[in-house]
Amino acid sequence: MNKKIIVAICGASGSIYGIRLLKALLNNPVNIYLIISNTGYKVLEHETGYTGESFSSFLKDKGVVIHNDADLNIYEQDDFFAPPASGSFKNDGMVIAPCSMKTLASIASGVADNLIHRAADVSLKEKRPLILLPRETPLSIIHLKNMYTAAKAGATIMPPSPSFYCNPKTISDLVDTVIARVLDHLKIKHDLVKEWG
Ligand SMILES: Cc1cc2nc3c(=O)[nH]c(=O)nc-3n(C[C@H](O)[C@H](O)[C@H](O)COP(=O)(O)O)c2cc1C
Repeated sequence: MNKKIIVAICGASGSIYGIRLLKALLNNPVNIYLIISNTGYKVLEHETGYTGESFSSFLKDKGVVIHNDADLNIYEQDDFFAPPASGSFKNDGMVIAPCSMKTLASIASGVADNLIHRAADVSLKEKRPLILLPRETPLSIIHLKNMYTAAKAGATIMPPSPSFYCNPKTISDLVDTVIARVLDHLKIKHDLVKEWG
């Protein structure tokens, strides 16, 4: 059975993390449930040259190869009728890449006023993996407290901090050092970065 993964892209800088994650995931027989926030779309336009075309065509233009047995479902942020809105939708985890401080705050306070917040809220209550890639710098005490609260509730806080010990040469190499750790946590095999040692 295909793994079912919820992926969300928020309006924080670093849309490329979401794109590289989708590229790595869709190379496998997986079912992806993708939610992009309204601001997420705007930041995508600003940072990646997305121009409002169908998102799957955009991914293909970005070199994403979709496995024959993979399935990509895309939902609007206000679609509370989508599967990720319900605890009865059994899935293998959710990743928010990148995660804005606003979405982090909504998750930490349990305010589920869009599908991303709701799906994250459901992941926590159902004790399913929830991986957040919060992007901001520097971090205020409010951001830190929200990360602490989300982590206490069961989320994995994985700031997109690239590593340099594998001698990355390009931006994609750097981004992959982060995405490799996300895939490790989702228990999805990859060859993005060699295992240390
Ligand atoms: C170009 C751009 C970059 C942004 N970068 C960040 C960021 O790195 N982190 C952050 O928390 N918010 C950032 N923001 C602000 C968020 O987009 C804003 O707080 C928004 O309400 C987030 O909504 P969302 O979480 O529903 O996507 C950025 C906004 C723009 C336009």
